[in-house]
Amino acid sequence: MTMRIAFKIFLTLAVLLATSSAALAERFAINSPEGRLSVYFEVDSQGRLTYSASRSGQPVLLTSPLGFEFKKHPKLGKKVEILKTEERTVDEVWYPLYGERDKETNFFNEGSLFLRDTGENLDYRVVCRVYDDGFAFRTIIPPQKGFGSFELMAENTHFAFPDDHSAWWILDNWDTYELIYSNTPVTQIGKVDNPLNPEHTHGASRGDAPHGCNTPVTMETKDGLFLAIHEAMLTDYAGMTLVLADESTPTLKSQLVPWPDGVKVRGEAPFETPWRTVQVASSPGGLVESSMILNLNEPNKLGRVDYIKPMKLLGVWWSMHLGAETWGMEGGRHGATTENVKRYIDFAAANGFDGVLVEGWNTGWESWYKDDNFDFTTPYKDFDLEGITAYAREKGVELVGHLETGGQIESFEERLVPALDQYERVGVTSVKTGYAGKIRPPGQYHHGQWMVRHYRKVVEEAARHGITVNAHEPIKDTGIRRTYPNMMTREGVRGMEWNAWSRGNPPEHTVNIAFTRGLAGPMDYTPGIFDITFKNTGDKYQFWNKIDGLETKGRLHSTLARQLALFVVLYSPIQMASDLPENYQGHPAFQFLRDVPVDWGLSGVLDGKLGDYIAVVRESEGDWYLGAITDENARTLKVPLDFLAKGRKYQVTTYKDASDAHYETNPTAYKIDKTELVAGEVKEMELPLAPGGGIAIQFKAL
Ligand code: NOJ
Ligand code: CA
Repeated sequence: MTMRIAFKIFLTLAVLLATSSAALAERFAINSPEGRLSVYFEVDSQGRLTYSASRSGQPVLLTSPLGFEFKKHPKLGKKVEILKTEERTVDEVWYPLYGERDKETNFFNEGSLFLRDTGENLDYRVVCRVYDDGFAFRTIIPPQKGFGSFELMAENTHFAFPDDHSAWWILDNWDTYELIYSNTPVTQIGKVDNPLNPEHTHGASRGDAPHGCNTPVTMETKDGLFLAIHEAMLTDYAGMTLVLADESTPTLKSQLVPWPDGVKVRGEAPFETPWRTVQVASSPGGLVESSMILNLNEPNKLGRVDYIKPMKLLGVWWSMHLGAETWGMEGGRHGATTENVKRYIDFAAANGFDGVLVEGWNTGWESWYKDDNFDFTTPYKDFDLEGITAYAREKGVELVGHLETGGQIESFEERLVPALDQYERVGVTSVKTGYAGKIRPPGQYHHGQWMVRHYRKVVEEAARHGITVNAHEPIKDTGIRRTYPNMMTREGVRGMEWNAWSRGNPPEHTVNIAFTRGLAGPMDYTPGIFDITFKNTGDKYQFWNKIDGLETKGRLHSTLARQLALFVVLYSPIQMASDLPENYQGHPAFQFLRDVPVDWGLSGVLDGKLGDYIAVVRESEGDWYLGAITDENARTLKVPLDFLAKGRKYQVTTYKDASDAHYETNPTAYKIDKTELVAGEVKEMELPLAPGGGIAIQFKAL
């Protein structure tokens, strides 16, 4: 484990070393603080701006061209001179309001290249930050004559890998990240459909642009190095996908999600692109432990932050996904009734939960796909908004609001302020937003610049109302919670709900999302289902699927112990224990969900392998929590206990798979053990995992 503990007592140390000379021809190198990682910028013999990277002398990226095609300046990057370079070092510590650790260290060497494109007669800048665990670069276009407002038609950032690495990726659908990961060589990215994603294939949701993958995409090299490509600080730009640059080499190239007219980005100088990020580590856990994406964002911009707090929730939610209750009033099975919500509030209060998410309290759900169906403020007649929020307050629990837009952006934007005003008035400080379905106006995509702007607008407006956001069907996370800490968590992952109404998520999925989607930031996966096969829902279950010609009922592909482990493995500052109160009531394993924190002082990955398993530990107020999960294969991991405070005594409560547990045939067989240990005396621990299983351990400091 390479868990980072920062001893730095100084806050910011910035050393400015500027060199300058006209038309520098040589290679400009930027090394990471410890010197392991180096990034080189160079103008090649054709005059193109390129970069490359190496780690301990081994190539990470070969010469990779960088360029842009603007409507007015279509060849930016093709006839370049380096006018001047500057370097500086930044080493700072900052303290997030919540997170995987309570202290972040931002330590990098930065190089700036001042460039002139003599072909297009434009000046611009590339800035690159090199960390020990990765690097990032962005392009800056200063205001200048001949370049005011612009239309960007293409970004041609290349990533030329020296070998055809093993890659873990999802198809570059422009409307959803809710897909199962594929593992292929880089040269197959975007070329093959994953049969586990029958709902989202090559044809889905796009024009005729070539196919590739969304980011983060994670890779393993033959030499045991791990890489991930993503982006940071996506603020007013299109989401970046990656496609193969040609048929024969493992080189990926950026492809941006378009506006309806094919333009990718509209803007005005001065302009900065998001950071293009390359994480590099010697273990997959090293990628997970990196804070680079977060660090590349700007410090907190919000004034008031008192309402921003991690929360553990229950939700009037799962029963609707099972079909036992409904969002709307049709069929007489409405879930969000005053009486039912009060029952959830009582259960939350009795078990120390902070809030209850309520979906389907506002009218419009019967006509989901009709335009203008939601006004976001009118309650159904069996839901007493004022009474319930007052009742929750009395019980020390908060109601968490819901704003499902169904993808209708323009009417939502008109109604957003009144909706947030009402939430603020009744004391709601946290909302979940939703964008299920195609974006309207048609032709816009969830991941294009127009929607990036929309998602940001909602975050800013919510902050003005003292409200935090958990976005479903979001734009990918690029670390903006550092700047807008009220943007706490998001979905953007194929979450628990898919188990209710599709063939579901295979066990490997939750391992893989920890090493891919999880690198971007917190993930609202909504774990914690105890009734694995929906036995207790019985005949009320509604969503039978036709799978391979057979009527098939949904179910989880998981053991029960694994459901507990996911609360440690998958980080989110807002976590919803997603099962029904009646499935938790009196269940001994529920104690773990009562105990597990949602905010952490330290976090680390003990062991892991893409496609196979992961073991994570996290600390909160001196107590440690461990979560480990495996794929469809049983295995026993042996992990060191050196994360515990040496000499300290801990009460250890273990929630594990029973010896005959199996995710398909015997998923709810589990065992709870209690013992004590003195850290240092016991050096390691075995973690037995059933097929599709997991283990959750609480180390309570005594
Ligand atoms: C999809 C979201 O992911 C889910 O959590 C929500 O319940 C439904 N949309 C309805 O808003
Ligand atoms: Ca969803």
